[in-house]
Amino acid sequence: MEVKHYFSTPFLHDNLQDSQFCDELYDFILSSMNEENKVVDAPQSAHPGLYESEFNFLNWNVPETNKLKQLMLKFLFKFVSEVNDLTQAQLQKIRFVHESWFHVANDGGYFQNHTHPNHSWSMVCCVNPGSNDGDVAFEQGKLVFWDPRGNASMFLDEANGRMKRPYSFSGFKVQPKKGSIIIFPSYLQHAVEPYRGKDYRVTVAANFRFHFDE
Ligand SMILES: [Fe+2]
Repeated sequence: MEVKHYFSTPFLHDNLQDSQFCDELYDFILSSMNEENKVVDAPQSAHPGLYESEFNFLNWNVPETNKLKQLMLKFLFKFVSEVNDLTQAQLQKIRFVHESWFHVANDGGYFQNHTHPNHSWSMVCCVNPGSNDGDVAFEQGKLVFWDPRGNASMFLDEANGRMKRPYSFSGFKVQPKKGSIIIFPSYLQHAVEPYRGKDYRVTVAANFRFHFDE
């Protein structure tokens, strides 16, 4: 018997595999964390313990952002090509617009449940996961993602309440590591659990939408 997987959610968790570059980026981002680069009209109000930059980070055109953009795009285009079965000719023609920013969380930083509107795919790159000194499971700065099928748990019994992946309706958590690359549909509800630690937890995020150059 073959059970099909319909309505599934494409998701990538990979890694840059470049620890030295992550450290360089960490220093660069911390040195850029000032009032001038801070977002002023964010869709969500400021959260305690969290710095959010303006939404043009990957377009700063400095060596650090240029290299990161190139690395992130490599993952993104491979992913988009895979999930759409794009031909080489289509890949040549595809263009994108994006917005991008960085987050620096210190002790107690978190981000509430949200989506990334008006884009198809979103990415997170973990530059440094911080020191994670929290002694409870939900205080380690994990990313939490929820099932987009709003009615998937409308009735639960012994035959559907504990289904295995990919059928489960339970949210899932990702503990970012240094260099983690995460790609997910922009419609997916997600949050960052409170981060407890002495060091900074630093991430870069970006939203993308695409069109073909005719
Ligand atoms: Fe987000």
